[in-house]
Amino acid sequence: MRYQIPIHAGERTCTAHVGSGLIANMGPVVASALRRQARRAFIVADSRVPGAFTLAAAESLKGVGLASRVVAVKPSEQDKSLASLERLLVEMARMRLERDDIVVAMGGGIVGDLAGFAAAIYRRGVPVVQCPTTLLAMVDASVGGKTGINLDAGEGPLAEPLKNVVGAFHHPHVVIADVDTLRSLPPRTLRCGLAECIKHGLLAGGAGDPGLLDWTRGKFASILSADPATLAELVSRNIALKARVVEQDEREQASDEAGGRALLNLGHTFGHALETLPGLIGHPGSLPGGLHHGEAVGIGLVAAATLGAALGLTPPDMAASLRELLEEAGLPTRVDHLPEDDRIIDRMRHDKKVQGAAMRFIVPLAGHGAKVVRDPPIQAIAAALQAIRL
Ligand code: GLY
Repeated sequence: MRYQIPIHAGERTCTAHVGSGLIANMGPVVASALRRQARRAFIVADSRVPGAFTLAAAESLKGVGLASRVVAVKPSEQDKSLASLERLLVEMARMRLERDDIVVAMGGGIVGDLAGFAAAIYRRGVPVVQCPTTLLAMVDASVGGKTGINLDAGEGPLAEPLKNVVGAFHHPHVVIADVDTLRSLPPRTLRCGLAECIKHGLLAGGAGDPGLLDWTRGKFASILSADPATLAELVSRNIALKARVVEQDEREQASDEAGGRALLNLGHTFGHALETLPGLIGHPGSLPGGLHHGEAVGIGLVAAATLGAALGLTPPDMAASLRELLEEAGLPTRVDHLPEDDRIIDRMRHDKKVQGAAMRFIVPLAGHGAKVVRDPPIQAIAAALQAIRL
């Protein structure tokens, strides 16, 4: 099954193509999405992507007259850095990439953000094709034009890298989400994408797909066994949902009352703080090597629901039912050795969603919606952190 979802953002409409066998046939799709004839494609490939996919992409692009160069990038938060950005820009210049040429970002969200940002600033902007190869990148990072890198800001409380503080909005010309790429992924990576789908499911009532969360829950087994038809439907429904939110508030400038795109950050204020603290282990399931983004977001959803309940905004039983749902998907909902509250609150104060001096959280509401909350009482934040402590 193949889907085409229009995404209206910025000055143009970009189409997201979702289905099987898309990478090997991407040349004509890319050529028809470009306004002018490109001659070169700079493919930034996540080092986890099997070579067969990058070769197939290069071959298909060659068929429409584009010569490709492939550069591999490690998909770690440490590598989403100024140094990696510089390396890509230098390679692009060495390849003599021109204004009409393209960057193809093939990989997970880290590679999409990094390559997308390089495309945004090289020669003041060249077209980017987002070719996400993880579930998380398909349903979230590749849609909506956010690109960027982390910044290592030095000593003291800022010692851990600040996530996504340098970046640009740069919408892709086309998104190619080939679900065949998901078959080569470890289950942990699929689960991380599921956390973002669950987040979308919690928002879906306000965004035109109220049955999404229940449908997703009913399909956990087929999703985690990478059934292509289920994955294609999952990805297309999530892209459509995100597109509807982004179209209404492209630059995340809606008021707190309206919510807008900021609501997509449900679970992320806690989640970003958790994933930038090194070496945390999620439970249930001992997951070495720190929390991945999707895991941190899942835990953040439980924290956000607990915060909302402490403020009288979220139904009191929602955190417990969310925990059950996330654990059914095999995701952690608590953290071992979580540092003291002050350290986490300090991380959250430096999150990019802080506006002025205020800390901004998104809390879920009954009936699938969410609300922006500014500077809640510290006791309510403490209750939320207590709920995710092992
Ligand atoms: N991942 C949230 C957004 O794109 O706004």
